Amino acid sequence: MALVEVRNLTKIYRVGESIFGGHRGEVRAVDGVSLDLDQGETLGLVGESGSGKSTLGRLILRLIEPSAGTIRFGGCDLVHLGRRDLRRLRRDMQIIFQDPFGSLDPRWRVADLIAEPLLIHQPMSAQLRRQRVLELLGAVGLDESACHRFPHEFSGGQRQRIGIARALALHPKFIVADEPVSALDVSVGAQIVNLLSRLQRQFGLTYLFISHSMPLVRYLATRIAVMYRGKIVEMGPGDELIAHPAHPYTRTLLAATPEIEPVP
Ligand SMILES: Nc1ncnc2c1ncn2[C@@H]1O[C@H](COP(=O)(O)OP(=O)(O)OP(=O)(O)O)[C@@H](O)[C@H]1O
Ligand SMILES: [Mg+2]
Repeated sequence: MALVEVRNLTKIYRVGESIFGGHRGEVRAVDGVSLDLDQGETLGLVGESGSGKSTLGRLILRLIEPSAGTIRFGGCDLVHLGRRDLRRLRRDMQIIFQDPFGSLDPRWRVADLIAEPLLIHQPMSAQLRRQRVLELLGAVGLDESACHRFPHEFSGGQRQRIGIARALALHPKFIVADEPVSALDVSVGAQIVNLLSRLQRQFGLTYLFISHSMPLVRYLATRIAVMYRGKIVEMGPGDELIAHPAHPYTRTLLAATPEIEPVP
């Protein structure tokens, strides 16, 4: 059984709505998407800006409400789950953002930022919580000295590590990484990608990895899904998809990345 099963997932935004009624426009941000994610795999999601990648990632975590379709996580129907059950399942599903600065409260010390999900979801002694925070810092390559500092005292890459430690706090099974390295320098981004890859092996994580970069997605993902105007137009094992792109938009994407341009 797949860990995540998405069927005909759709999100329609109504735009240009007037208080006087009248003409309304619709944006089908995600339009009938179906996909499966197996335990331990990385599905890379690529596509141009505005194609619906972030909306899809957020829908799967039920951070936003779908207009139609179903999402099953570990066999549980996420769309019709009650609040209490959803809260419990939320521990298993986390998100890593492009800019961790936006999601880390600047007034909080790093130890408290990482401990927050534990405080909310997992009753334990202060001593054990402290131990867990140190363990998480170690897992992302930071040490104890980070505990008492504030987010702004860290570099972009280090901040991303703090965001990852926080996401890992409750032993999640599934992580949506929404362009986690696109705000970073190439070399720093490569370190974060390697970290994500190591953590995946260490903890058996399943990733939906969203990116603009085909080379990056090819490196990290077992399968690649190409999104275009709200739909997945092509999905398959990375090497196959790159060697034999079936959809014109995939060819356009590949042509924009000369180093992996398929042999004509
Ligand atoms: N809250 C919203 N209200 C109305 N339209 C929205 C909303 N959020 C997203 N959209 C629209 O939905 C479409 C998909 O947006 P989304 O952010 O999912 O794209 P994306 O692929 O993540 O783009 P990017 O690569 O730039 O991050 C866009 O046309 C966007 O304008
Ligand atoms: Mg996005």
